[in-house]
Amino acid sequence: MTTEFSRPHVAYFGYKNGELAVENVAISAIAAKYGTPFYVYSAAAVRERVAKLRAALDGLDIQICYAVKANNNLSLLSLLVNEGCGMDIVSDGEMQRALTAGAPAGKIVFSGVGKTDEEIAAALNAGVHQLNVESIEELDAISRVAGKIGKVATVVLRVNPDVDALTHPKITTGTSKNKFGIAYADAVNTYAAAAARKEINMVGIAVHIGSQITDVAPFRQTFERLAQLTQAIRAKGLTISRLDLGGGLGVSYDGSAGIDVIAYAQTIRETLGDSGCALTIEPGRFIIAEAGALVAKVLYGKNQGNVKFSIVDAAMNDLMRPALYDALHPVWPVREPAADAEALPVHLVGPVCESSDTFGEFDHLPALERGDLVMLGVAGAYGATMSSTYNARPLIQEVLVEGDSFRLVRRQWTVEDALALERDL
Ligand code: LLP
Repeated sequence: MTTEFSRPHVAYFGYKNGELAVENVAISAIAAKYGTPFYVYSAAAVRERVAKLRAALDGLDIQICYAVKANNNLSLLSLLVNEGCGMDIVSDGEMQRALTAGAPAGKIVFSGVGKTDEEIAAALNAGVHQLNVESIEELDAISRVAGKIGKVATVVLRVNPDVDALTHPKITTGTSKNKFGIAYADAVNTYAAAAARKEINMVGIAVHIGSQITDVAPFRQTFERLAQLTQAIRAKGLTISRLDLGGGLGVSYDGSAGIDVIAYAQTIRETLGDSGCALTIEPGRFIIAEAGALVAKVLYGKNQGNVKFSIVDAAMNDLMRPALYDALHPVWPVREPAADAEALPVHLVGPVCESSDTFGEFDHLPALERGDLVMLGVAGAYGATMSSTYNARPLIQEVLVEGDSFRLVRRQWTVEDALALERDL
């Protein structure tokens, strides 16, 4: 596959004085100070994404709960808390991060298909806004745990609307083939049964149909189903006051259009604007993907037959998405290519011992030499959070840029950090 990714298409990333900069900071300055590889984020870009979403949703009674799984760096979380975001979490680890970053418990939504008793207890003790429940057995566990610690759990039922989100199969969640939520046909009865439990305060329903959705149509279909369910629940004489619409808003990896947030918001107004319910959305990628990138250095070049490889110092363990979903992240050379630079087809690969350790084949990059820096763009979401230490490679550092300045927001793991887990037992 070949694709052209010549220049950044995302806000706050661009060439200045012949080299790539994030806001006003040259990437080479960050590399000189901290070494490579690293993730870099633009604070202004994050704020702009939140503002864009908020402006689109204007007039709706809606809370943005950022999906922490997309990127859980504490500095980014606290930036988002300051922007007024709540948090959507799926584990105690994410809850601890959200709380540490200053998120009010009352703005935390606990999603996820497999909460442990310990996680349920921790969430109830912290006083989270709601638990999104995905099965009857989970309802049983919540009733039991809440009863034991003398609390009433505020619960929202996650429903599987059986809508195809028209996205990658590995990130589709809302069809009946997926493990998520309670079947649409069972939703009203399950809601009624849960509402009858004394340890449970049943307040609403939730959906999440998948990720990287760039078409508004599946959202409309889903929200129409939510509106129908809301009516059906009320028709049974039950109360419902909250609707959680999930995340999934898609972004642009290649310069083509991401989701049209104005149309998305209008769809919410048209389908649920008069539902009388407080609304929540759980966007992750939309807020953070375009605001982040992975920077790597070229270690070696080599020709294998007529294929040219550039081996960089970042790998599949740092950015899993290409290996896992065949995702193609744009590659931008840090030194601005001369207008007449010759483009050479190249496979950009990492040092990990797997053939799937590739970032893709590109045919519009200038010749890359040992020591050159490259940026893999649109990597702020599901980049750092999905990284691993495969091949005993350390988790890499993360840097936050704000205007003219930059700072480390996660230091690199060291071999010592890793060895201590096994040695100091
Ligand atoms: N809410 C729930 C219940 C979710 O499961 C997810 C994502 C979100 C919200 C946030 O979705 P977003 O707005 O970011 O699309 N690792 C994959 C994406 C997996 C998404 C899982 N759930 C990737 O790198 O593409």
